Amino acid sequence: LPSEPTKKMMMNEPVGSLFSETASNLVGKPINRVDGSLKVSGQAPYSAEIHRDNQVYGVLVSAKIAKGQVENIDSSALEDIPGIIKVVTDPKQFLRNPQQGGETKAPTQGVSEIFYHGQPIAVVIAETFEAATEGAHALKVSYKDETEQAALNFTKELPNAHEVNEKKGSDKNAVNGDPEQGLADSEVTLDRFYHTPSQSNSPMEPHATLAYWEEDKLIMYTSNQMIASCKQQVMDALDLNKDQVQLISYYVGGGFGSKLGIAPESIAAAIAAKELDRPVLICMARSQVMEATVRRSNTRQRIAIGCDKDGIINTMIHDTVSSNLPGEAFFEPTALSTKYLYRGENRRVNYEQVDVNQVLSGSMRAPGEAVGMIAVECAMDELASQLNIDPIELRRRNEPEKDPTQDIPFSTRQLIACMEQGAKQFGWEKRNPKPASQLEGDWWIGTGMAASARGNQLKPSEARATLQVDETKDLGVKAVIETDMTDIGTGSYTVFSQVAAEILGLPIDHIEMKLGDSSFPPASGSGGSVGAASAGSGVYLACEQLRDMLAEKVGLYPDTIQLDKGQIKRSGEHHLSNTEAAVEAVKDKTEGFKQKVNKKTGIALPEPATRVYDFSNFQSYALADIVSEYDEQKLSAKGQIKPGKNGKSHRQSSFGANFAEVAVHKVTGEIRIKRMTGAFAAGRILNHKTATSQCYGGMVFGIGSALMEEIIHDKRDGRICNHDLAEYHVPVNADVPQLEVILVEEDDPYTNPMHIKGIGETAISGAAAAIANAVYNAVGVRVYDFPITLDKLL
Ligand code: MOS
Repeated sequence: LPSEPTKKMMMNEPVGSLFSETASNLVGKPINRVDGSLKVSGQAPYSAEIHRDNQVYGVLVSAKIAKGQVENIDSSALEDIPGIIKVVTDPKQFLRNPQQGGETKAPTQGVSEIFYHGQPIAVVIAETFEAATEGAHALKVSYKDETEQAALNFTKELPNAHEVNEKKGSDKNAVNGDPEQGLADSEVTLDRFYHTPSQSNSPMEPHATLAYWEEDKLIMYTSNQMIASCKQQVMDALDLNKDQVQLISYYVGGGFGSKLGIAPESIAAAIAAKELDRPVLICMARSQVMEATVRRSNTRQRIAIGCDKDGIINTMIHDTVSSNLPGEAFFEPTALSTKYLYRGENRRVNYEQVDVNQVLSGSMRAPGEAVGMIAVECAMDELASQLNIDPIELRRRNEPEKDPTQDIPFSTRQLIACMEQGAKQFGWEKRNPKPASQLEGDWWIGTGMAASARGNQLKPSEARATLQVDETKDLGVKAVIETDMTDIGTGSYTVFSQVAAEILGLPIDHIEMKLGDSSFPPASGSGGSVGAASAGSGVYLACEQLRDMLAEKVGLYPDTIQLDKGQIKRSGEHHLSNTEAAVEAVKDKTEGFKQKVNKKTGIALPEPATRVYDFSNFQSYALADIVSEYDEQKLSAKGQIKPGKNGKSHRQSSFGANFAEVAVHKVTGEIRIKRMTGAFAAGRILNHKTATSQCYGGMVFGIGSALMEEIIHDKRDGRICNHDLAEYHVPVNADVPQLEVILVEEDDPYTNPMHIKGIGETAISGAAAAIANAVYNAVGVRVYDFPITLDKLL
């Protein structure tokens, strides 16, 4: 056997899944997080907690103008501060922000150009964090200030909106039929503008990096969502090759998009560590995370719907303007789900961008759908009111049979099941559709709903699975799984352990899940809700490969073995001869996917002479015994998955429905969420507990988006006025009532070998609209400008 065979898989056809064939049935179970006790006992090391001997501390210094150049950095005031080591400045723009979507700019020799207020321009290094902080405050920077020429007001800049870069951007414009004519010819129309504000990703763990060099190799403990692409960014920024960079993110305290790319503190730490030849730790302050990493763009969205008197939609227009720094490719892809959510032969999705001198905009918590579906789903609710049709019924009538833009089938689509199950649980039938009809004491009560949808994708991912002898384990063997996939609080460690344990027939504590290190095989990383499906498939295939190797090792046809509690058991009665095996193998080949053939030899069984064991009295064999036969006492396999044609031949998306009940105070206009129910269908569920938690998170984000989250940019210089969690409001416990989540049963054989789909960002997509629609039902006021603060209801 080769020591590391690679089992590649392209997803081109519906595939079977091993999960249904195994006995232990661990997948799906709501088990606790395998890293839970480490986290709550403070033993899970986050980047800022890593310590190296001789380590020093850096604090970033930010620009205080919106546009212009750094003229001079005067560090004379720092000379009297004990512990100050050095001020590392930015002659090559390395701190600008090499985040996702950022174009590589040619450095301007000797000049630091400022693009936005808050842009890091230098880092002060000291023996202590306190000294570095004091030094950063004392540094005197003079500027050639061009703030007067800066673009700082999104609304004012709207007339200057320009085309987006479709090639490098986050979605594509699209037109089907004749939308304007369709609208003009419709019996019933609705045409509205919606505004959503700049938002802050606000992960709980601020960005932090400890960087040090071992000769020419840079090692960084940093808080990242995507190791492989972040490593590439570091290589690009510092002109290093792949052997010269190692990124490690064992534990990540949330990212929500702000850690998809490398943030400025990483590169600053790497450069300072090189200059000083000492390990450098830079932790961003909360204000810096908000000012200098990434934000979600504000948007202005036009939704225009044309339908007949029965609500059958023929036209859907979704035009969006969002903002970013000049020259950036990323734009907020608000209309991703508008392309397939409802029927309609005429459709237009159009994106435009305005340039602003404000911190980079990029991905945040379901980039696109999270704010795009606010517009679409509020419009659907208003249309339902206008037509006097129940909002669920209106959506049911507009259920497309196929993806209406591309004329391809859905892999699975359970929007109706989600609405029905959610409605039943929520008690939707008791609803009074007449707005402002229910006053309880001082509070107007209202209910609302909205659909959810989030596109599903598969990204190339690899994993390595190794069985090795371990006397400390009950069964004398353990499986070590390695992939550079991260766990950003989502439960990757746990769900992948479940997958590996299930396929290898081992108890879960016999799985050692190793994530978040660029020295492991590269995977999708955590973003776009693709991680569990993509990196999980890599793990699945590696374990399946290992299972096949074990079968070969004991001389059995892979499909006839059962792995259970560290034993290889023969599940089939007959023991195939070589001839039979060859015939079976050919048969299997013609059946397509499940090809249990050794690709090197072309047959399913090894020659009798190479057989290690005598199976005349075969009952079962211990994995540990087989593994210990090997010189190195381990057996290793690699799995790899790549996107195939499925993503193009089928529209893949998770669907759901959110229901909300709100109370609005009749005097103050204060809005309280009383309860929410969400029903979501995302293929098979790997772990009901972590999946449910993901949905809770999405619904909580929905509350934030509907009622409170809003970056306030100072109109004079674009600075973020509310750059901390005291002023930038995210929902706290008191804002979040009991939430109910229903995971609607689904199995999607077109997505990946596990039949799962992305769930993380499904619940947020549409959640804010459900709340807005409930507010309308409570008080009869439609708010088009988010968040819905009390002043907008009075
Ligand atoms: Mo998510 S915003 O794709 O990390």
